Amino acid sequence: MQVIETVAELRRTLAGRRTALVPTMGNLHEGHLALVRAARPHGDCVAASIFVNRLQFGPSEDFDRYPRSFGADSDKLAAAGVDVLFTPQEAELYPEPQSYRVELPELAGQLEGAFRPGFLHGVATVVLKLFNIVQPAAAVFGKKDCQQLLIVRNMVRQLNLPIEIVPCETARAADGLALSSRNGYLSGAERAEAPRLHRTLEDLRRRILAGSRDYPALEAEAMEQLAKNQWKPDYVAVRKQSDLQAPAPTDRQLVILAAARLGTTRLIDNIETSV
Ligand code: PAF
Repeated sequence: MQVIETVAELRRTLAGRRTALVPTMGNLHEGHLALVRAARPHGDCVAASIFVNRLQFGPSEDFDRYPRSFGADSDKLAAAGVDVLFTPQEAELYPEPQSYRVELPELAGQLEGAFRPGFLHGVATVVLKLFNIVQPAAAVFGKKDCQQLLIVRNMVRQLNLPIEIVPCETARAADGLALSSRNGYLSGAERAEAPRLHRTLEDLRRRILAGSRDYPALEAEAMEQLAKNQWKPDYVAVRKQSDLQAPAPTDRQLVILAAARLGTTRLIDNIETSV
């Protein structure tokens, strides 16, 4: 695996190759390695990036304490068969203040966007920069970050970028907890409690499949259940898969999303369902 830190060297190395890109912020787990496996059929070169993107962190978020584990990450990516690893320093990607940013539609002001203002703009901006630098044929994103995936997919379509966006299923621990770099912040007791988030979503799915269509009532009950168990929920929401808007009772392809804080750690999860 070739490790590259500069844009110029990366461009030279990838010129003429069909690249499948896996953008990450490092602190890698099995979910990221699943993205690498999903990338393989989409290019003759798999490139991963590790860059903790300051632009997508709010002022009170965990940018400074976000775990940086380059040595372990690079070993994992090499073992997973990544051909090129791009690990730019901040000054390489942002040599001057990034005053040109991607403007996003209303979708970015709800769900994650409502609770993490600026987050999705920061993601879209760095992803567009990475796409311009790498010029990949395909890029892989996890379904756990459902809204991020939709924003990137819509951006690529509306801005006519010739890149296939490949979605990858959420990787889970045996007890259902979605794998996340932030799970490492959980204490032992919190880790034991954490799978409740996924169980809550599964319970909502069961009730929807049994015929319940009063989505606001289901959401409110689920929030209450989480709060009773020491969670601080930001939202539990039943939405349409296509655009993450509130569904009518006749809509069939749904996604149930949740974000909640357990102690100081904010976890997100979602599951899709067809009714
Ligand atoms: O999902 C992530 O890890 C990040 O949001 C991404 C896509 C690498 C952009 O920084």
